[in-house]
Amino acid sequence: MPQSGIIIGANQGLAKVMQRVEIVANKDLPVLIHGESGTGKEVVALAIHQRSHRQKMPFRRVNCGAIPPELIDSELFGHEHGAFTGSTARHKGWFEQADGGTLLLDEVGELPLNAQVRLLRVIQEGEFTRVGGERPLKVNVRIIAATHRDLPAMIEERQFREDLYYRLTVFPIVIPPLRDRQDDIQSLAEYFVSRATTRFGYKSIDVTPEQIELLKRYDWPGNIREFAAVIDRAVLLGDGNCLKLEKALGISLSKHTVSRIPAVIDATPGKNGDDILPLDAVIKAHIEKALTLCCGRVEGPFGAAKKLALNPNTLRSKAKKLAIEIEKFRG
Ligand SMILES: Nc1ncnc2c1ncn2[C@@H]1O[C@H](COP(=O)(O)OP(=O)(O)O)[C@@H](O)[C@H]1O
Ligand SMILES: [Mg+2]
Repeated sequence: MPQSGIIIGANQGLAKVMQRVEIVANKDLPVLIHGESGTGKEVVALAIHQRSHRQKMPFRRVNCGAIPPELIDSELFGHEHGAFTGSTARHKGWFEQADGGTLLLDEVGELPLNAQVRLLRVIQEGEFTRVGGERPLKVNVRIIAATHRDLPAMIEERQFREDLYYRLTVFPIVIPPLRDRQDDIQSLAEYFVSRATTRFGYKSIDVTPEQIELLKRYDWPGNIREFAAVIDRAVLLGDGNCLKLEKALGISLSKHTVSRIPAVIDATPGKNGDDILPLDAVIKAHIEKALTLCCGRVEGPFGAAKKLALNPNTLRSKAKKLAIEIEKFRG
């Protein structure tokens, strides 16, 4: 759960996002929030709820990607006593729990197609039936859907229903990745350092301009979630006396071998003396970097092909030739 509704960058890198939040908050429309993992989709969904007339009613979040397919109906719509083996009591689904308030359908792109049909019906008719139940139930729920997936590309691949997409996307909000919000780095660093020192019982620590530069140079594939974790680690490694940022980032870098920092060092001839890599290796690293940033998406406005200015089919065949497994980059 996001804490306390604090939104760093609301007047900087997230200013446009917050303008859209203000416009839509009280309109009772569904909202679709798109952004990479860790960019703050849940934070923004909560901000919408808190600025709406539903603010005193429940805000519930369900991660659609975490429910086993066979339990989706019972999780979303609930079930009656004895509806299936093992259901010993009546269970209220997420829609009933959020009645009067807001339901965040997180990772909505992970919902199987048949569940998408039933979801569309609830959105259109405000009505559903518990598993094993007979009476249709009415609910008044505002839906916010969030995803890191490229839903238009999924529609083309017949993995997402077009009719549901149009229902959800009346008012889309796109959260930019952290690497495109450099202006926020300073305030984020100050906020998370102060949060970490307070939590761990240390005195306050200053962040140097060099450290801010280092934070700006990194790609942040895990966005704010990764940023917060790196700062926590840097505070702990410095034992509360200083920020051991390089060490803290090093742990992240080894996981994301294609981040901006090593790519620049590896691919720049001259700087590395005779250490010139074969051209294919550099191309491979570059494609992998684009795929990492796009979470394995090839096509569409958020896809790697667009970033690389390539035709999606050309990118796929290059990837195949260089033994890059695109699926591995899907988060
Ligand atoms: N603008 C922000 N200011 C402060 N904290 C943020 C901000 N954006 C994200 N966070 C924090 O980063 C973490 C990830 O955010 P979350 O909304 O769960 O991302 P997503 O749903 O896009 O994966 C949470 O702990 C959240 O509180
Ligand atoms: Mg999330």
